[in-house]
Amino acid sequence: MKLWGGRFTKDTNKLVESFNASITFDKRFWREDIQGSIAHITMLAKQGIISDEEKNIMEKALLEISDDIANGRLTISEDSEDIHSFIEAVLTERIGEPGKKLHTGRSRNDQVALDMKLYVRKQITETDGLLKHLLTTIHTIMKNNTETFMPGFTHLQKAQPVTLAHHMGAYFEMFRRDRSRLYDTLTRMNTCPLGAGALAGTTYPLDRDYSAELLGFDCATANSMDSVSDRDYIVELLNDLSIIMMHLSRFSEEVILWNSNEYGFVEIDDAYSTGSSIMPQKKNPDIAELVRGKTGRVYGALMSMLTTLKGLPLAYNKDMQEDKEFTFDAIDTVKGCISLFDGMLATMKFNNKRMEESAKKGFTNATDAADYLVNHGVTFRDAHAIVGQLVLFCIDKGISLDDMTLEEYKAVSPVFEEDIFEKISIKTCVEKRNTKGAPGRDAMKEIIKANEKYLSD
Ligand code: ARG
Repeated sequence: MKLWGGRFTKDTNKLVESFNASITFDKRFWREDIQGSIAHITMLAKQGIISDEEKNIMEKALLEISDDIANGRLTISEDSEDIHSFIEAVLTERIGEPGKKLHTGRSRNDQVALDMKLYVRKQITETDGLLKHLLTTIHTIMKNNTETFMPGFTHLQKAQPVTLAHHMGAYFEMFRRDRSRLYDTLTRMNTCPLGAGALAGTTYPLDRDYSAELLGFDCATANSMDSVSDRDYIVELLNDLSIIMMHLSRFSEEVILWNSNEYGFVEIDDAYSTGSSIMPQKKNPDIAELVRGKTGRVYGALMSMLTTLKGLPLAYNKDMQEDKEFTFDAIDTVKGCISLFDGMLATMKFNNKRMEESAKKGFTNATDAADYLVNHGVTFRDAHAIVGQLVLFCIDKGISLDDMTLEEYKAVSPVFEEDIFEKISIKTCVEKRNTKGAPGRDAMKEIIKANEKYLSD
């Protein structure tokens, strides 16, 4: 059934019909469409626009349709143009005349704007739940590893020693910000477009704030033209999702490096790795690679949405139908990636010994050796040069600063004493760094305590 056949004398071209239709993808929000319709008729009845009896008949039938779709008794036919036409057609088929009143004071323009908002709102909540679970996994690793030493890198060169808890803590911050970004989007988008009509409201005495309240929105939208053409929240969502993917992708890149034979910092669980069809020795980090790879796809959705919107005059234009497929794909992709990454991380084994050895080998305590000299009255610039000489000496002999004898130290600077060894040990280097946010155990414990509280709120 077409919702707009009256004005036409010829059938639609078959290709136009399928080009125009959105049922193949908007059927995904059938629940939201029914939820919106029930709120709409409840408001219509309260305002005396339809009778209570008509409302009751429609509501009962809509709930039955919902049940039937959920239980597979009713299949959404792709012959309809969109999910709105389909539900209305089934309703009218089942209850006759009253069904034809469903669309009173409503246009598909405000209807689709509502459905998409309801759907996105639910998806934001689900994505947030997955992020929270991922944060709990990271938190557990942090709690267990405040004394697991590893090299910290800048420019992918060993820089200063940190701990695994500290390194994981950086990702905790990123995903915490992601949750807060989603929350911002949710807060800003929570106004109800229902009742905006095609673009200019309606002549019926609708109570738009009442419909908004029924659907859990803060209030009705303030401008009917904006209501049917606003897709800002989708751009915001796709931006939020892109940033989540960017974070997951960076994390994946590290897992891939750490899992390599050269690093050997971690071993990905068998359940989360795959093999090679030709090389029997291989265990590949495919999940991390796929997460990294799928990031481009989500960025693509953001670019696509921004591009679709950029030339659109007010108010609704059919271009807006293009907001759905990319958004749905981005949501599915991100939810899948968070869950899989979480599972991979939770089962990954960390090779603590190897990480500590690596931290010891790359002169990550050179800054601390310089600080030692500074604490004994040498200027930082001179100290920097002296330690530079020590490093050269070590490279030449193939040893680390910890392996030098006191005599060798003294040959470069008489300031060095026996306590240099304790002062540049990995443990000391980390423990001394106790300013807020630094890797020292006490500083880390504070952060972990705060994170614990955040997760329990
Ligand atoms: N399928 C359309 C969309 O997704 C629904 C709104 C159609 N409105 C219209 N006036 N043709 O945007």
